[in-house]
Amino acid sequence: MSETTTTSLQHFLAIDDLSRAQLNALLDRAASYVVAPGAQPARGATLRGRTVANVFFEASTRTRASFQLAAQRLGADVLNFDVARSSRSKGESDIDTLHTLAAMGVSMFVVRTGLAGQPATLAAELGPHCALINAGEAELAHPSQGLLDVFTIRAHRPDAEALRVVIVGDIAHSRVARSAVRGLRLLGVRDIRLIGPSAFLPDAREFPDCQLLTNLDEGLIDADVVMALRIQRERMAQSEVPDSGDYFEHYGLNEARMAIARPNALVMHPGPINRGIEIDDALADGPRSLIREQVKNGVAVRMALLETLAASLDRESATS
Ligand code: CP
Repeated sequence: MSETTTTSLQHFLAIDDLSRAQLNALLDRAASYVVAPGAQPARGATLRGRTVANVFFEASTRTRASFQLAAQRLGADVLNFDVARSSRSKGESDIDTLHTLAAMGVSMFVVRTGLAGQPATLAAELGPHCALINAGEAELAHPSQGLLDVFTIRAHRPDAEALRVVIVGDIAHSRVARSAVRGLRLLGVRDIRLIGPSAFLPDAREFPDCQLLTNLDEGLIDADVVMALRIQRERMAQSEVPDSGDYFEHYGLNEARMAIARPNALVMHPGPINRGIEIDDALADGPRSLIREQVKNGVAVRMALLETLAASLDRESATS
């Protein structure tokens, strides 16, 4: 890896932890782990001897599985910690849980939580020989998702400064949107449009450099990349959940609506997707959809991320 990425990065809590040079070096490294369709997954040995624990206090398919595969393919032992059956139910605190696992040799924690601020709090308690990766934090941050999203965009559209990127859906409750916007900014994207019903738009002061719109057809004009988001039902009252048919009519993506965007516009979604609500089958499974490529790239990006943090831990061990 380049000298740039050897800058110390003990924890990865937010996209803002990275400089642009670090971001690009990390994405370059991730590119070395992307293989051709049908090829055997890339492997390495940079995590050999390390133990990585997935500690997910919220549900996950993509993030948890890809961190597991990324760590294993770099030679680590992986513990998928079973939160629901753990002694947390007997009153053990989350930091005591992590200290307990660290005592067994876990040195890298991948944590998803519904509590805003918890990744930083846990990281601060862990000490110098452990790393923590934020794998999703309430509605605030999902930085490894942000990395894989910008990696995927960069692979298809390296001209970041010329791009118009649309993010449509439940922006207000979306950690994916927050990390994507930060990642896009760091990549150099200037034109970002956040679109959704007014109840799903954030306070404009939180995104001063983005255009906030309620009309998707207007917002799609000249879009190069369109990312749909899931309605985060778990973060709102049932009375706030919009009618599915009405939502799809105004904010759902299909080929007819994508005709408003640029002819070669890319379609993305972080998943899980709700077909017929945010996006229809033909578009989700069609040739311009990058949804499965995002998932594939997630493993490569997380391999690069894990080895960057492991290198920092190795340097810390060497100097202490
Ligand atoms: N995109 C994403 O975070 O998916 P999971 O919730 O399945 O990990």
